[in-house]
Amino acid sequence: MNATDRSPHILVFDSGVGGLSVLTHLQRELPRANYTYVMDDEWCPYGEKTDDILLSRIMSVIGRAIELCQPQLVVIACNTASTLAMEALRETFALPFVGVVPALKPAVENTASGAVVLLATAATVDRDYVDDLWCAVGGQRRLIKVACSDLVLLAEEKLRGRDVSADQLACVLRAIDVECSRSLSASAQDDESISAFVLGCTHFPLLRDELESAWSQPCLWFDSGAAIARRVLSLVAAPEFDAGARALSQRDRCNRSSQWWCTSRASNEDLYEVFRKLGMTPAGRLPEACEGVPAA
Ligand code: DGL
Repeated sequence: MNATDRSPHILVFDSGVGGLSVLTHLQRELPRANYTYVMDDEWCPYGEKTDDILLSRIMSVIGRAIELCQPQLVVIACNTASTLAMEALRETFALPFVGVVPALKPAVENTASGAVVLLATAATVDRDYVDDLWCAVGGQRRLIKVACSDLVLLAEEKLRGRDVSADQLACVLRAIDVECSRSLSASAQDDESISAFVLGCTHFPLLRDELESAWSQPCLWFDSGAAIARRVLSLVAAPEFDAGARALSQRDRCNRSSQWWCTSRASNEDLYEVFRKLGMTPAGRLPEACEGVPAA
């Protein structure tokens, strides 16, 4: 059987709708897989929360989702969560996990020179993970890190059918521009310019058209969605994965349909159509996800 014909059960997790920018790539690579999407909307946005409470929250919600949905593979479609919790998740749960990290390597490899700008949440830009990754792949190139958590909320609004506020977008772009100019003016190379933007938050590709058309200079834009989907496909294609998948009964496979869960008590009716177009039905609120976890 070809890997794309397999129907594994994959759990995709994010704080909100950002993970849908990854899910669309997964559905393209593995069209016959069953997907469960879990969004921790009660705690969205993640990017402004402290690491310790966020880690305990992520472990609790993912644990509950695994218990309830019994996936065969988990995709943490959230840079903020992946750069914080991947090690703990792998140590705790006996399942394959795939995380999302900023596409700094492809940005360096696909541009010959110039600065690379990382747009991410405040939490992600501060992570040692990002600095270590840049040390490994950046060479002599300059990395400009810009925290733009406001884009998370704009992406949420967009997918909920509301117009992206031009004023708010302009405000975010001004802040990016100021940060880039400040960093470049401190540069030793007078002719240094920006060659690439890395969208290091899964919400941001949902605003890629708006960002690209508002940014006046030509540069390349990168995100991790396609690479994550290729990685999942390679894991699913491996013989050891097949052995695990066989443990599911044929009946379980047939009865399962792709579903999405939330953690808040909000109706989220404004998202029904978005999920319906992705072939997913609403499952409701993930029960008891927040037991014993401090309030947001
Ligand atoms: N989509 C997430 C990420 O990739 C998190 C956004 C947030 O909740 O702050 O970082």
